[in-house]
Parts: sequence; structure tokens; C-alpha cells
Amino acid sequence: MDPIQAKQQMTLAEFRSLRDFIYGKSGIFFSESKQYFLENRLSKRIAELKLRSYGDYLSLLQGGQGSQGAAELKQLFVEITTNETSFWRNPPQIEAFQNIVLPDAAKQARERGQSRLRLWSAACSSGEEPYTLAMICQDLKDTVLRGLTVEILGTDISEKVLAQAQDAVYNSYTLRNLTPEQLQRHFIPMGKDLFQLKPEVKRLTSLRHCNLVDYPAYRQLGTFDVIFCRNVLIYFDEAAKAQVLKGFHGQLHPKAYLLVGHSESIHAFNTGFELLHFSKAMGYRKRT
Ligand SMILES: C[S@@+](CC[C@H](N)C(=O)[O-])C[C@H]1O[C@@H](n2cnc3c(N)ncnc32)[C@H](O)[C@@H]1O
Repeated sequence: MDPIQAKQQMTLAEFRSLRDFIYGKSGIFFSESKQYFLENRLSKRIAELKLRSYGDYLSLLQGGQGSQGAAELKQLFVEITTNETSFWRNPPQIEAFQNIVLPDAAKQARERGQSRLRLWSAACSSGEEPYTLAMICQDLKDTVLRGLTVEILGTDISEKVLAQAQDAVYNSYTLRNLTPEQLQRHFIPMGKDLFQLKPEVKRLTSLRHCNLVDYPAYRQLGTFDVIFCRNVLIYFDEAAKAQVLKGFHGQLHPKAYLLVGHSESIHAFNTGFELLHFSKAMGYRKRT
């Protein structure tokens, strides 16, 4: 068959080999019911690269560092990740961050003699989450955050979404949860339904590539007062989740906060975090 003629069928054996490879590299686990998903996402790559089979694609990926395989691995992360996000996502949790978590984190930082408050949006997708935090911090800079320098780090495994975050230009759909006042205060209208984040808000945030299952890579990121890791642990299996949570535990100050997605309980893990109940939202705090 001409490789670019028709969508390649993925055999079960190919699916299992690719699934295991992806899991080993990213923690993302595809159950067998997701074979169609992987086939849909990767068939385009197979055609673009003019490969004959998914087995050939895996061999290419396994080529390793310094080869075409290393570059294709980055592209694989772009293809297989689900990057859905929006500003002010899960409003009750964002409000709990604004009204409870941030003031307490700022108080603790002052008590520890810190001059910087560090927030990490781990798996930040196209930037909506770290920039939501940046907008809040900008609004509270002369009150709750007075005297503290805020640093927000956004990281993701997909270079494509990081480039979008770097542009910081958004349409009204992803901005739908913002009030007209917030939109006006923090964005510059560019026409054609596009809005650019103002530089003074963007400046609070830096972006970098980081794979959450590569703990040695993010051990160097320093210590944080709050980590947001929302709507990504759902893609990991239990072992990868436990590994990532252990990593977060190591990167947080004592009594610092971890906010996960609303359907992502980490309770089953003996993680050294205590569960916090906010109004219509939940969060975690490192015990000691
Ligand atoms: C559904 S988005 C969630 C974005 C944002 N946190 C939110 O809740 O709106 C999930 C993000 O996790 C990223 N991701 C998946 N596996 C990852 C890994 N191993 N390391 C870092 N990021 C990862 C994906 O690229 C994607 O952008």
C-alpha cells in the first residue's frame, strides 16, 4: 500500500509497543480502548514522514538522543497530548486560590523571611492557567502581596502549546469566564475576536519545557509556595501519579499548597498532603 494513500491501520501489537513507549517517556497511559485515539493522532505523522507502519514510527522514536528520534519525540508529545484549557477554569477553585490560598501563602512566605512568592503551573498548556494566576497577582500586588515579588512558572511537555503561551493572544471563547472588567484591565483588543495579554501581567510569568515524569529535570526548578497541577494527572496511571506527587512534595515549602483538578483526588496516595475543603472546591497542603 502507498503509505500516504490511506490511513494506516494500527495492529494491537503495534498499539501495545507504542503505548508502552509513550508511558515510559511521559507517564501518559492509554488503555486498550484508546487504540483508535492513538491511531487517529499518529496516522497523520506516519503519512507526513512517509513511513510504512507504526512499527517503523516506533523505531524512529527509539533512535534516541541527537537523532531524528529525539526531534520526533517532541512532535509525539504535541500529537498525543490533550491541551484543553481556559482562563479562570473551575471558578470556585480559582476563587479559593485568590481568597484563601494566596493570602496564606503570602503570610507564610513573609514569616519565612522570603522576598519572593513562587507559583508553578505544572502542565500549563497554552498559558490560560498561569496567566489567570498572574492576573490575580497583578490585582493584589499592593495589598495581599505587598512587599513580595511574584514569580509564576508555566511548564508543559508540548512545545506547541508553550509557543502559544509565549504569544499570549487569545480568543473570546477561552476568555469566556472573565468579567468585562477583567478583560479590559488585563488585555489589549487586537480585533478579529483576539485579545493580547498586557505586558505587565505577562512579565510575572516565565515558561519552559518540563516533563512531569522527569523528576531530575524539575528538581532544579527550586521551591514553590503553590503548585497548580490540574487536569493532567487523569492521563497518568497510579504509578506515574505517585511519582509526580512525590516530586511535587519535594518542591514545596512545608505547609505549601497543591491544587489539582476537581475530578482528581490524590487521597488514595499516602502523599504527605492534607486535604482542604473550600467552598465548592478542594485543595491540598503539604503536611510538614
Ligand atoms: C488538559 S491540559 C490542562 C491544562 C491546565 N492545567 C488546565 O487545567 O486547564 C493537560 C496538559 O498536560 C500536559 N502534559 C501531559 N503530560 C505531561 C507530562 N508528562 N509532563 C508535562 N506536561 C504534560 C499536556 O501537554 C497538556 O497541555
